Amino acid sequence: METADVRADIPLLDKVIYMDAASTTPTPRPVVEAMCDYFYNYNANTGRGAYSLAIKATQKVVDAKLKVANFINALPEEVVFTKNTTEAINIVANGLPFKKGDSIVVPNIEHHSNFLPWLNLRKKGVEIKVVKADSNGIIDPSIVAETADDKTRLIAVTHISNALGAVQDVNEIGQIARENDSLYLVDAAQSIGHMPLDVKKMNADFAAFPGHKGTLGPVGTGFLYCDQKQSEKLETISLGGGTVLNVSEDDFQLESFPGRFESGTGNIAGFIGLGASIDYINRIGIGKIEKHGEKLTKELYSELSRIENVTCYGDPQNIYGIVSFNINNMHPHDVAKILDEVRGICVRSGHHCAIPAIKHIGAYEQGGTVRTSIHYYNTAEEIQMLGETVEEIAKTFGA
Ligand SMILES: Cc1ncc(COP(=O)(O)O)c(C=O)c1O
Repeated sequence: METADVRADIPLLDKVIYMDAASTTPTPRPVVEAMCDYFYNYNANTGRGAYSLAIKATQKVVDAKLKVANFINALPEEVVFTKNTTEAINIVANGLPFKKGDSIVVPNIEHHSNFLPWLNLRKKGVEIKVVKADSNGIIDPSIVAETADDKTRLIAVTHISNALGAVQDVNEIGQIARENDSLYLVDAAQSIGHMPLDVKKMNADFAAFPGHKGTLGPVGTGFLYCDQKQSEKLETISLGGGTVLNVSEDDFQLESFPGRFESGTGNIAGFIGLGASIDYINRIGIGKIEKHGEKLTKELYSELSRIENVTCYGDPQNIYGIVSFNINNMHPHDVAKILDEVRGICVRSGHHCAIPAIKHIGAYEQGGTVRTSIHYYNTAEEIQMLGETVEEIAKTFGA
């Protein structure tokens, strides 16, 4: 499938220039149709009913999990469906038996979803050791190695920074975690669906994913990978229907992983849509998406960085899918509002739920950055239009 074919499946792309893939992506027609099929033809709960509709719904969710697992080189038994990336990370942070004196290593440029769940463990007496990225948002693996010690139970790193697009060497950091005998969690929110991912190559014990970003799946979906060797270490804090094998009046026996983490009725239509979105990505070809993304990222950076009064963040040789910038002397929200009003260009502005990252690059006082983020449906013409519009705004209001 070519970019034009994908655009034809996403009607809203005729109305706007959508450059906010890092927040969420628009949902292509076949994914919406797979969800409509569920609602119209077999809308039933999963894992409960013996009637054919319920069996069909259950099977579709089982199929979706297999597709998702194959996509990251995992087994379906290693995948928990969640409502988003944030929930997946919180399951690990609240489920591992951390105790006073333990430490966790995490970089200073993380999305809040891969920072606050760890910071919160200070209440238990866990030390949070924060690794500083360089000025482009790159984490030097050797600093991670120096920071981790024999008390470090876990290292948590985001693959691609949502604020800067900086790509981290997650395989190398995974190796460091292994050598240090620490658990390793990768937040792959900005890389899934953009490039081939293999949780085994990353040496990840845990990895957190959205369904609603790079994979072009629906909002309200995400998933957690947990290596089979670690799954028994994780305790669940949400108990109820679907999590137990047996219950007496004074005790209960939990399901094994991942069942005991999928309490209550989940987002059945969403997970079916997520399965359809993985099919869709596979039809395009993940290698083709990555190449397109690399090319457009370079064009985006060079188009914006040539403009007078514009500051681009990050190292153009080491970013993917995201370019953060500012027009000097303008609040990023004003830039984003004008881009929308004059050309229908949708970009995110502000601190991108990554305040420490924005402080790190010195953009906090300005109100954050303007963030452009792309996917396979974006074109070189759209980037040119963005560049021309930013230039006009910078000429008129920048200094
Ligand atoms: C790197 C990163 N981690 C976590 C999240 C949170 O994702 P979700 O909204 O799926 O919980 C995001 C969202 O933008 C992100 O970019």
